[in-house]
Amino acid sequence: MTDKSGTSSILIDNIGELTTHDGPPRTNAALLAEDGRVAWVGSASDAPSADERIDAGGAAVIPGFVDSHAHLVFAGDRAAEFAARMAGRPYTGGGIRTTVAATRAATDDDLRANASRLVTEARRQGTTTIEIKSGYGLSVADEARSLRIAAELTEETTFLGAHLVPDGDPDDYVALVTGEMLAAAAPHARWIDVFCDRGAFTGEQSRAILTAGLAAGLLPRIHANQLQHGPGVRIAVELKAASADHCTHLDAADVDALASGDTVATLLPGAEFSTRSPYPDARRLLEAGVTVALATDCNPGSSYTSSMPFCLALAVREMRMTPAEALWSATAGGARALRRDDIGHLRVGARADLAVLDAPSYLHLAYRPGVPLIRTVLHHGVPL
Ligand code: NIG
Ligand code: FE
Repeated sequence: MTDKSGTSSILIDNIGELTTHDGPPRTNAALLAEDGRVAWVGSASDAPSADERIDAGGAAVIPGFVDSHAHLVFAGDRAAEFAARMAGRPYTGGGIRTTVAATRAATDDDLRANASRLVTEARRQGTTTIEIKSGYGLSVADEARSLRIAAELTEETTFLGAHLVPDGDPDDYVALVTGEMLAAAAPHARWIDVFCDRGAFTGEQSRAILTAGLAAGLLPRIHANQLQHGPGVRIAVELKAASADHCTHLDAADVDALASGDTVATLLPGAEFSTRSPYPDARRLLEAGVTVALATDCNPGSSYTSSMPFCLALAVREMRMTPAEALWSATAGGARALRRDDIGHLRVGARADLAVLDAPSYLHLAYRPGVPLIRTVLHHGVPL
């Protein structure tokens, strides 16, 4: 999902329901994209002419999904681990080591092909921006190459050298991550992330790693409070991280902290689904005034789905979000979690990233779970 701008104009006409996030959805609408940007939005009867025209035939149009949390640079899969979980084994995060071994053994071309297959899969399901983390290399060379490959596919790249301690002394590994590995990763990354949880990194180590990342010009985000309650969410707010992700185990002080700051709570219901864990309560966060994003967490261990519609349906059914809230969180919420204002909405000037649905309303995304409802995707104004 690298830059590729449309050079001509394209009109999406005859839209039954258009969600721009500029007020309630419009009916009988049209949208003009010019040079990759939204140039005009209005009523279908006033639609201007354009080089190309797509007749939506009364279908709904939504902003492209912004998947702000994905781990796509890896080799192998862990289907057997999933089967063992479904037979009662708990998820611990320890399976990350299996993927690290497979990733280190893979060629650059294998990793590139797998990541790009997943980006294509996501795009077909309406995702027009995707964040991609490293984190299955865990050596200086393997983290740097993971980020180089990620940067070929997206501008939203995240250094997650602190995914797990691969071997040896944890303090030595933190020194490596904050030193030589960070220096090798920083040219290819926009963000820095840490898995702050049981069996991964402590609060103190996480704070040190994110602070080192900030000093190297990277912006912090964090895997927080997934496996148990811990200090991750509060560290996120303290460091003004763009996002605290997972947020499965929150106490009242965490919710208050998130509500008082600028940090987005990114919920990843695919992970609760695939690890058979209790879902976080999005309603509680929304009622406290927290900004909520939804993302896939696509990875071979805890959430092997690239489907934002699936996550949106789970959020509605299992996390007490309304369909409108879930759509906002999967688009504008993801954009907030990436500190972007040019995506996640379709107001004039936005990047012309959108999906035409095979449905009359966005409500069908949650109402018809598991059904392929993405008919056409425009990315920078260019049809898929
Ligand atoms: O976000 N929690 C840490 N990292 C991933 C899981 C990685 C894995 O199991 O391979 C996550 O769930
Ligand atoms: Fe993750």
